[in-house]
Amino acid sequence: MMKMATKIIQAQDDIWEPICKEIFSNKTVAIPTETVYGLAGNAFSEEACKEIFRIKGRPSDNPLIVHINGMDMLSRIVDVNEIPSKIWPIMKKFWPGPLTILFPCIPHNKGGVCDQVTAGLPTVAVRFPSHPLALKLISLTGLPLAAPSANLSGGPSPTTAKHVFDDLNGRIPYILDGDKCCLGIESTVIDCLQDPPLILRPGSITKTDLLPFLPNIQTFDSLKRKDSSSILATTLSIKPSTPGMKYRHYSPNAPLILLRPINRDDCFEEKVVKFITEKFDTYNNIIRITSHLTMDFPISKHSKYMEIKCSSTSSSSEIAQNLFDSLRMADSYNPSLIIIEDLEDDDDINLGINNRIEKASSSIIYL
Ligand code: TXA
Ligand code: MG
Repeated sequence: MMKMATKIIQAQDDIWEPICKEIFSNKTVAIPTETVYGLAGNAFSEEACKEIFRIKGRPSDNPLIVHINGMDMLSRIVDVNEIPSKIWPIMKKFWPGPLTILFPCIPHNKGGVCDQVTAGLPTVAVRFPSHPLALKLISLTGLPLAAPSANLSGGPSPTTAKHVFDDLNGRIPYILDGDKCCLGIESTVIDCLQDPPLILRPGSITKTDLLPFLPNIQTFDSLKRKDSSSILATTLSIKPSTPGMKYRHYSPNAPLILLRPINRDDCFEEKVVKFITEKFDTYNNIIRITSHLTMDFPISKHSKYMEIKCSSTSSSSEIAQNLFDSLRMADSYNPSLIIIEDLEDDDDINLGINNRIEKASSSIIYL
């Protein structure tokens, strides 16, 4: 089969016609958003949506997020009379932005998005992005765009046009270059259709941001982690309902070990160093992704060790912005092992970062 040449294109006036043409002919293009790059196609088109799943190698039961440019478009895909009243102020406050909300969808046979988008669920996940290039494409086509992250399924999400190219070169015609994504982790996904409302995927819009609007909102991850048989989880019969939760996600090619402190004290760094030193017996090329300066330690002359700093300031937003890039960069050195630690849960954005790190890792070691 002939491979198509994938072009990375800069946003200029003359690029929109060919890009829109691809969307109108039910093909896909990669576009920047404020969170990560997305692989966009017409959400009404079965052909386009099947193409998205095929290109990414995505399991067909993992539904897609639909990107819109305002309330008129929302009303074309969602039964607005069925929207619970508590959702309206949330849309007003956080849209456009990195928040995806589940809605009762208009079925495809009544004019709604195609069944591939929803994976046959009665709900559709909708996001109104703030990135000007994403908004421009939605407006020029006049179509809601289904867009999962523009990476090969299972790998780290793409936060630059180059990341998309590395994964999808030869599979898509165009990557619209919008520079580095400013947030770096995917949108927060919330389900307000059940009680209590749930954060299905933590992101830059945090629980603290949402609490004034949804005082009983819960984070699905934290419910699960504290105690899977907890009173909350059982008596409220929470149905975690993001099908994507069961799949491998964000993972680099090399095994990734997540080191999690039992106690976050000064000894943790020493334990990490000891752990890595011992691992040199088995792994001769170790990369550590970290946000802080680490101690020097003895490395046998047969082993290679490198550190990748995912932040120069240790700020949560900078770590979020660089996390996927660091995982991809680590892989580019072909290490035999990658080590990462998770962050303190004190900062809300850290929950989103830790969620990605935990899902990306092949094992978790408590030290
Ligand atoms: O920031 C983002 O949300 C990015 C950019 C491109 O907008 N998109 C993104 O899409 O992360 P994706 O496909 O990689 O993640 C979509 C998530 C999955 O975890 C999926 O299971 C969940 O949203 N989802 C989609 N529709 C759903 C539905 N109807 N019910 C529950 N979860 C749903
Ligand atoms: Mg994804």
